[in-house]
Amino acid sequence: MRIIDLRSDTITHPTPEMRDAMFRAEVGDDVFSEDPTVNRLEAMAAEMTGKEAAVFTPSGTMSNLIAVMSHTRHGDEIILGEKSHIFLNEAGGAAALGGVSLRTLPNNPDGTIDIDRIEGAVRGKNLHWPPSRLLCLENTHNFCGGAVLDVEYTTEAAEAARRHNLFVHLDGARLFNAAVALGVPASDLCQPVDSVCFCLSKGLSAPVGSVLCGSGEFIARTRKLRKMVGGGMRQAGVIAAAGIVCLETCVERLADDHRNAKALAEGLRQIPGLEVEKPQTNIVMIGTGEIPAADFVNKAGEAGVKMISVGTNRVRAVTHRMVTAEDIDEAVRRLKKAMAV
Ligand SMILES: Cc1ncc(COP(=O)(O)O)c(C=O)c1O
Repeated sequence: MRIIDLRSDTITHPTPEMRDAMFRAEVGDDVFSEDPTVNRLEAMAAEMTGKEAAVFTPSGTMSNLIAVMSHTRHGDEIILGEKSHIFLNEAGGAAALGGVSLRTLPNNPDGTIDIDRIEGAVRGKNLHWPPSRLLCLENTHNFCGGAVLDVEYTTEAAEAARRHNLFVHLDGARLFNAAVALGVPASDLCQPVDSVCFCLSKGLSAPVGSVLCGSGEFIARTRKLRKMVGGGMRQAGVIAAAGIVCLETCVERLADDHRNAKALAEGLRQIPGLEVEKPQTNIVMIGTGEIPAADFVNKAGEAGVKMISVGTNRVRAVTHRMVTAEDIDEAVRRLKKAMAV
């Protein structure tokens, strides 16, 4: 039986074109900024996000960590959504290594945080309070089911932050999913924020890597921080080469993943007992109602469809380059059958 793996878009393998580019990559020592392929990837990323400069890192987690560290000082407070990846899924690095406290605010189902809540959370000048320094947004929003923040909201939130002298960092692990879904250039979504990182190794299918973009001064600081946390890589052009190919060839095709996610949601909605949210991008959130999420995931797994539970009765399915429209139809057929018995 062919396994249809919908656990995450991170499972995507590099394309043959990426492997070829990796094989041929021109390399140098990137800690000395001498790797021409990394330099090219960073220049491309800066241009695509409309920022002055960029730094290549091994992971989205490291990009977020060094962004937080670069914007803040020990003892500062950052404001972010309670469902944000930085808060939930990065092993507490911002606090443990960055030395900041995390002020979480409710995320609306669409991934936004209410503007008045952001402004209300900013600390005044009181001896007892940590200084508020940074607002973090996430686009698309993973735990809000791949929800897209549009340019208007991002601008409004960034303006609110700026009224209180906060910096704004965007965790854009799936930035290009948002740009493709909205039909706008990624740079429009990044223009309002001070820094943004995006992942190469999710829907874009590169094997490794993330790029953090911002002003020249900000990126210069993050280069030192990247070294501090062990992210200084040497002949990293071997992996950056795949990143260049994914930016050249895998962005527009994200629309296929979004179409497949919609088809999956529509198919699963026909299974009694499931509540399936309408996906905006490539992440489908499935409410399993009376059925414990772990049981649903087990049954699906036995039918050769892999998903993950993200709550007691909530399951996540993610579409990506390695599942086709036919695979989605087949997954729906198998799940209907599995849930009928
Ligand atoms: C929104 C978001 N931010 C950051 C990350 C971290 O990326 P990485 O797994 O490369 O550390 C992820 C990973 O899934 C994510 O979904």
